[in-house]
Amino acid sequence: MAKIVAPVKNVIALQDVIDSLSNRDYGVPGIGLVYGPSGLGKTTGVTHVFNQVNGIYVSMRKTDTATSLLSRVMDELGATPLPRVSRMVDYIVEQMSMHERMLFIDEADYLMDDLRMLETVRDIYDATEVPVVLIGMEQIARKISRHKQFFNRISEWAEFKPADIDDVCIMSEALLPHYIKVDVDLLEDLRQKTAGELRRITIGLKRIEKLALANEIDLVTCEHWGDQAFFGRAHA
Ligand SMILES: Nc1ncnc2c1ncn2[C@@H]1O[C@H](COP(=O)(O)OP(=O)(O)OP(=O)(O)O)[C@@H](O)[C@H]1O
Ligand SMILES: [Mg+2]
Repeated sequence: MAKIVAPVKNVIALQDVIDSLSNRDYGVPGIGLVYGPSGLGKTTGVTHVFNQVNGIYVSMRKTDTATSLLSRVMDELGATPLPRVSRMVDYIVEQMSMHERMLFIDEADYLMDDLRMLETVRDIYDATEVPVVLIGMEQIARKISRHKQFFNRISEWAEFKPADIDDVCIMSEALLPHYIKVDVDLLEDLRQKTAGELRRITIGLKRIEKLALANEIDLVTCEHWGDQAFFGRAHA
C-alpha cells in the first residue's frame, strides 16, 4: 500500500527548502539542513520530496565510514561500489552534475562523528554545486556550527516542529477514510497527549479509525472515545 504523506506544515517547510535550494541565485551556497526531534516526520517528508526531484537518498548508520556511505550512494545510483573512496567521489560527482541530482543524507548526525566523512560530503558539494540536504536531530545544528567551512555552505534551514491542531486535522483527513470524521475536541486531546509527535498521532488516529469501524460511527467524539489510550498499551 502506498504510504500517504499528509501536507502538514513540516512537509511544506521542507518543500520550501528544496525549492529555495533549486532556485538559488548564483553564488548562494546550496547545502540545506533539516532537523528536529524524533517522530516529527523528517524521514517521511524527505522520502516524499526526494522522489519528486529525482534525488538520491541515503540513511546513515552509526557504523558508517566514508567507504560504506559512498558505497550506499553508489548502490542508489545503480552502480557497483568501487574499492577507492576517491574513485567513488568522482563517479558520484559526475552523476550528480550530469543529471542535477540532489543528495539527501538522513540520520546525518553520524556525519559529525567522522571528519573525513564530513569533508567528503563537502568535497562532493563543492565539485557539483548540486544541493545536498542533511537531515538530523536537534543537536545537529549545534554540532555542525563547529565546522565553519561546512556551516558556511548552509543556506536553507528547516526546523521540524510538533504538530499544531491544524496539522492534526490535516493528518486525520489524509489518513482516515473519507466517511470517518473526528471531532476537533478529540483531535485536540490527541495533540496534547502526543505532544504533537506525528508518529504517535498516526497510531492514535488508527485506533480512532478502528473504534469508528467497529461501532459504525461516522463522527467520533470525546464521548465515544472515553479515556482510552491513544498510543502505547491500548488497555492499561
Ligand atoms: N506527513 C506525514 N503524513 C503521514 N504520516 C506521517 C507524516 N509524518 C510522520 N508520519 C508518521 O509518523 C511516523 C514517524 O515519522 P518519521 O519516521 O518520518 O519521523 P522522523 O522525524 O524521521 O523520526 P526519527 O528522528 O526517529 O527518525 C511515520 O512512520 C509515519 O507513520
Ligand atoms: Mg527519521
